[in-house]
Amino acid sequence: MERIICLAIGYVCGLLQSGYLVGKLHHIDIRKSGSGNAGSTNALRVMGWKAGLMTFTGDVLKCFAAVLIVRGLYHGSNCLALLMMYAGAGVTLGHNFPFYMKFKGGKGIAVMAALAVSNCFWHLPYSVLMFFITLVFFAVPVVVTRYISLGSLLAYAAFFIEMVVFGQLGWFGMEQAYLYELYILVFLLTALAWWRHRANIKRLLNGTENKFGSGKSKSK
Ligand code: G3P
Repeated sequence: MERIICLAIGYVCGLLQSGYLVGKLHHIDIRKSGSGNAGSTNALRVMGWKAGLMTFTGDVLKCFAAVLIVRGLYHGSNCLALLMMYAGAGVTLGHNFPFYMKFKGGKGIAVMAALAVSNCFWHLPYSVLMFFITLVFFAVPVVVTRYISLGSLLAYAAFFIEMVVFGQLGWFGMEQAYLYELYILVFLLTALAWWRHRANIKRLLNGTENKFGSGKSKSK
């Protein structure tokens, strides 16, 4: 029951579509512009860096909100890290599949970034490390290739591997059964992110993916 409550809290928070709202401020429907994705990469592409930053900030804050609510509700639980990840999973679902936008949202990368940071809310040292490792896996491919999607895919995979490594090092302070559940949950989130990027992956493979700063864009 706790897990469903955390998922539901996350889903409701995830429904706040900052990319869509920032698009409205610019009198455009972000779902019909650029790649058609309602995330910060497309907001940056279509409306400029301020809009991209606003979208990213909004998406990060809604994840923080969900994680903090769950932390407040279940403080002292012996599986708090797991419950907070269920909140993050709920935010990802609300962000990617908002019911009021015909389930057409973003790809969940800003939410994952927020999840990497939001570990700060329970164990600071490893979360800072986790955030910087994830950031390196995002930034290096983007700087070298200018493919934001490639950085997003590699960062998500790195996030999953870090969860397993840090979990097995005992840094989450949970029983092994909860840890396995956490790994499965993060694996499913990673698989979902990769599936949401399937069109990007095809374009990466055939060399037609949108490059950061190129001005042109292919959809979905
Ligand atoms: O965060 C989403 C990014 O990885 C790809 O976005 O708009 O190029 O499909 P987009």
